[in-house]
This record gives sequence, C-alpha cells and structure tokens, in this order.
Amino acid sequence: MINQLLQLESEAREAFTRATSEAQLEQVRVTFLGRNGRLRELQQRLKEVPPEDRPAVGKEFNRIKQALEKLLKERQEALAAPREVVRRLDVTMPGRAPRIGKQHPLSSTMEELIEIFLGLGFTVAEGPEVETYYYGFEALNYPPDHPAMDEQMTFYIGDDILLRSQTSTVQIRVMEKTRPPVRIIVPGRCYRRDTVDATHCHTFHQLEGLLVDEGITFADLKGTLQCFGKELFGEECRTRFRPDFFPFTEPSAEFAFSCFFCQGAGCRVCSNSGWLEIGGCGMVDPNVLENVGYDSEKYTGWAFGFGVERIAMLRHGIDDIRLFYSGDMRFLEQF
Ligand code: DAH
Repeated sequence: MINQLLQLESEAREAFTRATSEAQLEQVRVTFLGRNGRLRELQQRLKEVPPEDRPAVGKEFNRIKQALEKLLKERQEALAAPREVVRRLDVTMPGRAPRIGKQHPLSSTMEELIEIFLGLGFTVAEGPEVETYYYGFEALNYPPDHPAMDEQMTFYIGDDILLRSQTSTVQIRVMEKTRPPVRIIVPGRCYRRDTVDATHCHTFHQLEGLLVDEGITFADLKGTLQCFGKELFGEECRTRFRPDFFPFTEPSAEFAFSCFFCQGAGCRVCSNSGWLEIGGCGMVDPNVLENVGYDSEKYTGWAFGFGVERIAMLRHGIDDIRLFYSGDMRFLEQF
C-alpha cells in the first residue's frame, strides 16, 4: 500500500509540474485529487490494510495529500501570474505619443510684434498691472471725471488703486526715470470692465510705443507706423490716419492698415471697408511731457497703442477673442 501511495505521489508530482495551462492543471487535479480521483480510490482501500500497519500508512497518506495540495496551489499561482501580465501588456496597442507643447497664438503674435520694433531700434519696457490713479489717468492728462475715462472703465482695488486699462501708464513711469531720447515699446496685459463678447474681454493685451527726442514730428510717426504695417501685412500695405481724441496726445489720430486680405477692395475680413482699424496714436501732449519734468519747448514726441488680440485674430482668422483664454486644446493645437 505504501508503495502504491509513493507511486501515486511521484506520478502526481510529475503531472502537476508538466501542466502548462490552468485548464491542464485542472484536469490533473481532477485525476489525482478529485472526488473520484486516484488518491480518493486509495483512501477507500485503507481499510484493507492490516490494523497494525494502519497508523503508519494513514500518516503517509496524509503527508502525500497535503504535499500534493500544496503543490497544486503553487502551480495554480504560477500559471495564473503570467496571464495577469499578458492581460495588462497588450503589445498590439499603439504607443502613447508624447504631447508636445506649442506656443500660444497670442504669445507668438506678441513676439512677432516685438521683433519688428526691436528691428526699428526700440527697446522693451514694462510696468505694473496694478496701478495708481495718478499713472493710470492723472499724469496722462485726463482731467478729473473726464468722459474719456468712460471707455477705460476698469477695476478699482481701492479709491486710488486700479488695474491698468492701457499700457500708456508705462510712458509716464519710463519718462520719470530717463531723459530723452526715449524709444520704447511696452507689451503688456490690461484690464477693463467690458462685457465679454466675441471681440471684448476683461483681460487683454496691448502694445504701446513711445518716442521722445528733439525735433520729432508727426512725419516720423507716420513713417514708423507705415513701416510697421508693411512688416506685418506685406509690402502692399497702406496706412490711413483719421483724427481722434486721446487726452495724452495732441493732435491724436486713429490709424488703420489697408486690408491684407483684399488689398483694400472690400471683403468679409475688413467688413467691406477695405481698411483694418488698428489703434490710436498722436503727438505726446506737452502737459504729459511737463508732468514728467521734460521741457516741452525743447522735446517733442509721439506715441501709439493697439490691441494685440485683434492682430492675432486678423492674422489667424480667429473670430472669437474668448478662444484665446479657453484653454481648449482643439483650438490651441492648430497653431
Ligand atoms: N491707450 C489707448 C487705448 O487704450 C491707445 C493709445 C492711443 C495709445 C493713443 C497711445 C496713443 O500711446 O498715443 O485706447
């Protein structure tokens, strides 16, 4: 009987070890350890063993049963583990392409604009977005409660502290600290209490220009903006000036470029006018020069300012300003 048990043990061990799948292992289990399996068969024959041998045979039987059950468990785990790995590792799955970031269309437009003016000999100046009333309006020659402030409605943090509504504030800050000649551009963020729609946003960007020196005239302003227009929209670009009003320039003008899309014939891009209104400009008001301690008899200058979003929208055919700030990858990935 002992021999038969030992024989069964070695056969079972071999079969368990040979099984290469969970299904095979299950078959082997049924054969040896199943309810009608071979071990069970031998157990039923234990009663044939002479009573004096029974304890020893019984002990051996139990050892073999436990050993085989342990081996079965080990083999079950061994065969299950690789399947787990295979399930997680689908080698036919396409790889994950790394997401490569891109420059935001507003940033690239801003860089392009700065590049043009650097080429014309301007340097970049910056100033705070949180300003005092003095720099925001008073030093720029806005009389108290002047209606020109209406279109510059901004966010007040206190009676005297506000978010700048235009980059013109930096004209004052730079002139206070330097003597002419001054030749700067000011790219920067501005804020206004505008109702948000397709062309307005409470937060937007401007690019300001300021040039002050002896003998500067409106002709220099015209020449500079004309050159800017050609750089931006091509050699064909023409420039138009029309009278306007800004407290800090006298005379003031609005400047427009001929439509780059239809060359002035009239189309959807320019609302059939042939012109694209870009920004404001003018000769720096003598009061502004005096406010920063410049001798307005000796020095003259001009300034201009325009919105950067508008330029980016024109160049890329974007019809809603809100897209810039939406963080929508479907929009941003197009540039
Ligand atoms: N700051 C003006 C605005 O936001 C634009 C502007 C007009 C800037 C005339 C200038 C300027 O420097 O001379 O509407």
